Amino acid sequence: MNDSYLKKLPLAGKIVVATLLLSIGIGFTSAIVNLHFQSANAGQPLPGPEETVSEFHGSKQYSHMERLLIANETKPFNGTGSMRSAFTSKRAGGIKRAIKEKRIYLTELAEEKLKDNPEGLAKEKSRIATDPEVEKLVYQDIDGERIALLAWIKNGYKKEYYENSQLQGYPLVGNLESLKISPTMVHTTEDGAKRFANIEAIIESRCIRCHDANAGGSAANFPLNTYEEFTDYCSPEKSSAKSLEKLALSSHVHLLGFAMLYGMTGFCLAMTGLPNFLKVMIAPSALILQVLEISCWWFARIDEPIGPIFASAIPVLGGLVALGLLSQILLSLWDMFEINGRKVIIVLLVVGIIFGGIIGIKVILPFLKEEAGQITK
Ligand code: HEC
Repeated sequence: MNDSYLKKLPLAGKIVVATLLLSIGIGFTSAIVNLHFQSANAGQPLPGPEETVSEFHGSKQYSHMERLLIANETKPFNGTGSMRSAFTSKRAGGIKRAIKEKRIYLTELAEEKLKDNPEGLAKEKSRIATDPEVEKLVYQDIDGERIALLAWIKNGYKKEYYENSQLQGYPLVGNLESLKISPTMVHTTEDGAKRFANIEAIIESRCIRCHDANAGGSAANFPLNTYEEFTDYCSPEKSSAKSLEKLALSSHVHLLGFAMLYGMTGFCLAMTGLPNFLKVMIAPSALILQVLEISCWWFARIDEPIGPIFASAIPVLGGLVALGLLSQILLSLWDMFEINGRKVIIVLLVVGIIFGGIIGIKVILPFLKEEAGQITK
């Protein structure tokens, strides 16, 4: 064992170093939250290789049409904003009728289920007749139309599914099997085993109202009546990589700012009494890995197939940087204190983990779920 220089610090010095290390830990956590908002796909905690490739190398991603159907409905209602409100309370038509039909349908179900219980049935019927939840179910069904339409586009917008819409349509299989979608827009096989979304009817009822060559208004200039007109907007566009200015900005912020932090945490670790080989490996790890990671940001711009390989290494290196930093903080804290101090550290960490766990379960998971619901799946 080496001598620990951290142990020799006066109490005040130890407290300063400990608080510094913990602050850096908390600061790093908030940087990760920021990363989620900047780069991760909605519903995902952190960006994976697919997202870093598209961010740093550029990639074929969404078509114009998909973007219009995915983008938040608060964006302007035009070709650069969002058409999503065609499926929400804002602009979806025929809601009153749909709610009425839904109530009839739910009543029929209840009649079937409660046929031996007239009292329960009467109660259930009066609930269905007034329950505002039914309206929510209708909007959920309408959003299902959007999700089916998106799935059809994503999977190559095949003409056979569009043309056969009246008969069959786009098969709702895999993760769409249990999709809640307006009953009028699906065709179910006789045995009830398979469902097909009527793509043409969805477009007809949600879009053609405005996008009809014969309708008035500016949307008539962009008719979507035919398969060709609609799918003109469906081919994926290559999204370009992060701009050079942005890349230069975040490179220098990371290299200067984070290098300072990793330098301090690494230096603390170097002052511990841990065996030399461990110190030599761990103390400079975050700094070295960060330089490698940032180099990958730049190498990711190289043409295929080299660029995307560097791009997909980014999340891995990022994870290793985090691991290096975490071990620097924890090992330094551990080494610096004797029994009593270690107890305090453990209590702080346990409280932190419990607190983090509660936030994770109560806030983050529902948040991610909600985000995911706004996209496809
Ligand atoms: C309430 C009317 C309305 C409905 C319903 C509607 N849109 Fe639009 N849409 C518009 C308007 C208005 C514009 C902007 C036209 C302009 O730029 O002048 C637009 C623009 C677009 C554009 C961009 C056209 C271009 O080349 O700039 C696309 C694509 C589009 N809508 C698709 C859809 C789809 C798909 C649906 C159905 C899910 C839909 N719209 C439903 C009114 C509507």
